[in-house]
Amino acid sequence: MTDLDTFIAGLPKAELHLHIEGSLEPELMFALAARNGVSIPFASVEEVRAAYDFTNLQDFLDIYYAGAAVLLTRQDFHDLAMAYFARAAADGVVHAEIMFDPQTHTDRGVPIAEVIEGLLSAMAAAEAQFGMTSSLILSFLRHLPEAAAFATLAEAEPWLDRIAAVGLDSSEVGHPPEKFARVFAAAREKGLRITAHAGEEGPPEYVHQALDLLGVHRIDHGNRALEDPALIARLVREEMTLTVCPLSNHKLCVVEDLADHPIDAMLAHGLKATINSDDPAYFGGYVADNYRAVATARGLDREALATLARNSFTGSFLPAEDVAAHLDRIDAYMAAQG
Ligand code: ADE
Ligand code: ZN
Repeated sequence: MTDLDTFIAGLPKAELHLHIEGSLEPELMFALAARNGVSIPFASVEEVRAAYDFTNLQDFLDIYYAGAAVLLTRQDFHDLAMAYFARAAADGVVHAEIMFDPQTHTDRGVPIAEVIEGLLSAMAAAEAQFGMTSSLILSFLRHLPEAAAFATLAEAEPWLDRIAAVGLDSSEVGHPPEKFARVFAAAREKGLRITAHAGEEGPPEYVHQALDLLGVHRIDHGNRALEDPALIARLVREEMTLTVCPLSNHKLCVVEDLADHPIDAMLAHGLKATINSDDPAYFGGYVADNYRAVATARGLDREALATLARNSFTGSFLPAEDVAAHLDRIDAYMAAQG
């Protein structure tokens, strides 16, 4: 490990943008395919990894939904989440807010109880084993109709006291936030927090809509907000957290090169940017890899990395006293750097 690796791994951080289905490593995909008797269109782990060469979001989503077909039982969801928590703990993640896409599973006949109970049991185990806290974000697939999102919210009703927030993901362009205004209003009425992917591939207008029509507490990605100075000013004024995913942005061609990544421009504007892994099994790195990538590609110093880590707690859905305790830990860590 380099000094930078050691610094990043030791920096307490939260992960706020992680699709649990996107943490399915090819090795586990093969193991679950064998365990469940599901056939997958790949002959080897190497062949799977070779297929992870994407030119846009849809390219990735097609393969990501195909991979999720091996997930059938609550044990599968437990094993998937435990593998993520173990990996995240090694990266210094002390709190994770993980997204899951119920419709990817219920549309294949998997009961929502299998999905949620498997994830909840892993979350309890991660707290016991790694001291890591976590919460769940139920995400609606935006390529499906709003009525399907309403049906999913109704199916999840028995677990809503254990779900922190609802989110919006999948194919962005052509599926603006306004399509889901009513279901997000219903979720807000149930006391759920709100987040939405916006401005990953979609225009700044979608970020405006996420703010105005969904009432988001944070924006997932938000890169294209940088095209709109008035929107930047608003996001700064409203202290809106952006959950930025550098390796994802590179793999999905949101940025051509990591050296072009706007993370330092975001910080310079005063935006509350955070660093996250999105779908680490598909994009070549977990959260520490993402911190390292921007530190190297954009020359971020340790103070900037600590700012990103602080933002991950202030942008989390944790109670204020927990946020304050995590910020104190970062201050102590930085003071001890010498
Ligand atoms: N689902 C999983 N990862 C996603 C991403 N980066 N954008 C939209 N939907 C997703
Ligand atoms: Zn995402």
